[in-house]
Amino acid sequence: MYYPEDVIEEVRTRNDIVDVISGYVKLQKKGSNYFGLCPFHNEKSPSFSVSPQKQMYYCFGCGAGGNVITFVMEYENYTFPEALKVLADRAGVKLPEVEYSREERARADKRSTLLEINKLAANYFYYQLHQPQGKIGYDYFKKRELSDETIRRFGLGFANKTSNDLYQYLRAKGYGDEILKDTGLVTMEERGTYDKFWNRVMFPIMDVNNRVIGFGGRVMGDGTPKYLNSPETMIFDKSRNLYGLNYARTSREKYMLACEGYMDVIAMHQAGFTNAVASLGTAFTTQHAALLKRYTDTVILTYDSDGAGVKAALRAIPILKEAGISTRVLNLKPYKDPDEFIKNLGPEAFRERIEQAQNSFLFEIDVLKRDYQMDDPEQRTRFQNAVARKLLEFPEAMERDNYIRAVAQAQFLPYEDLKRLVNRLGSQLGGRVPAPESRAPMEEREAKKKKEKDGGIRRSQRLLLTWLIEKPELFDKIAGIVGPEDFREPLYHEVAQMVFESHKNGSVNPAGILNHFINDEEQYKEVAALFHADLKESLNNEEQKKALSETVLKVRRSSLDEAMRTATDIGQIQQIIKEQAALKTLKITID
Ligand code: UTP
Ligand code: MN
Repeated sequence: MYYPEDVIEEVRTRNDIVDVISGYVKLQKKGSNYFGLCPFHNEKSPSFSVSPQKQMYYCFGCGAGGNVITFVMEYENYTFPEALKVLADRAGVKLPEVEYSREERARADKRSTLLEINKLAANYFYYQLHQPQGKIGYDYFKKRELSDETIRRFGLGFANKTSNDLYQYLRAKGYGDEILKDTGLVTMEERGTYDKFWNRVMFPIMDVNNRVIGFGGRVMGDGTPKYLNSPETMIFDKSRNLYGLNYARTSREKYMLACEGYMDVIAMHQAGFTNAVASLGTAFTTQHAALLKRYTDTVILTYDSDGAGVKAALRAIPILKEAGISTRVLNLKPYKDPDEFIKNLGPEAFRERIEQAQNSFLFEIDVLKRDYQMDDPEQRTRFQNAVARKLLEFPEAMERDNYIRAVAQAQFLPYEDLKRLVNRLGSQLGGRVPAPESRAPMEEREAKKKKEKDGGIRRSQRLLLTWLIEKPELFDKIAGIVGPEDFREPLYHEVAQMVFESHKNGSVNPAGILNHFINDEEQYKEVAALFHADLKESLNNEEQKKALSETVLKVRRSSLDEAMRTATDIGQIQQIIKEQAALKTLKITID
């Protein structure tokens, strides 16, 4: 950050968040907050809230949140200094001149420099595609039936055959080797520095805010590797980004299409399916699922129809399910991937396939069946047993029955017989439902339990911080019971310290606290969420008062448990035991 803190704080406080956001989003007052349709995800009923008191916004739908500066950054796709400048101008604040050398600046804000360089590189590749030396790339895209509009929209480009022209270009722009080596765009060797990508058509990879964070480059013709991708860098994490999501997130459809390839995403978008995304040459991860969950709760998998594609789909289904997303699987046969399908049969046929997409459980059963020879009675029986066992994964009787019915129909099995088989197997297994996790090894189950517990404790901490901000009088009630030291996780701890500190100094200023985290998108979002635990309403009835005292005790108790785990000397342990005992009899009253 290259502006002093007080300057940033002045710009922030001189721009009232309700004023600024009203310029972008239609807001309506409800109680002490304002609500509107979230500009960061597609929704029909407003879950985007703006709090004049906290000077923050938060979307209970997609988790986007922050202060007035991050709003402008996210909405306008600006870097932090750009957003600050706009807001300073708006409020008539004069920003101090900061003259830093390029190197100093790079150190101060490496992330935004890397983004800057990626943007330049994308422009460079795009420019090359339209030069004589890039014609071979342009012709390639044309052969693949991409329109000029599509090429522009996805910023497609070409990396020349020359071995280091991009490197030369970036050097001429004033960037030194120190930063260039961390872009993933060049390889530095003893003999010299070379461009990582050459003689490839280029696909810039954008994050949800349309910032270029990396590239994929496809070889011309049949060489290997077919696709070369940027390595992971400070700004590029493959497991947390999905290609095409920057556009897909604003699509009006209720579901998302997930596929495997760059060209598949582009072909689908060009055909009007602008809700298509792809994971970037990696397996689908839980982070991908969490990212999608912000925008949709239904995903249609359009993975390749070959063996690898089916395997990838089978891996993705439970991950999506775990994230609370319901999944269907689209049949592309006889074609290999969405690109080829659409090229051959057109968008209408593809739309039909979307409508016919198969429930993911039934898809799994179909795939399972391939392992058995169904004309052999013994194999057939085994298959039926495997199906029954799989049906036991549904813990709810009603849901299980729905699936028994569906499977019976799809597999031509008598419903009553299948149901009996499932029930018998269920009781054989001790009445316990062998849900996938309970078949997992002990350690995994323990890990899962621990994760849930941690999640609960984090939630309590979020609740408590939100309450403290909304009702500062609570600080007195919890004095001596819970303090910043009870927030154990580093980020929570840092924030709690600032909250308690600012209360001591007069008043809590959540939007100001957020400034400290503004350079890290992940962090400021998480901090914004800390101040916006999902409270039904303020603490006005008995039930909520009870919830508060329970939450306070829970935070303190888990903190003592943690202290116990790490305690080393007997004196410490005795002290903790005493405090644990005291906690048991403690009553917090709130009026
Ligand atoms: P595919 O091999 O299915 O290629 O890889 P594709 O998408 O059909 O590509 P075209 O149509 O031949 O151009 C699917 C995806 O897997 C990743 C890429 O993201 C690709 O789009 N991949 C594939 C790689 O990262 N590296 C490779 O060498 C191959
Ligand atoms: Mn393809």
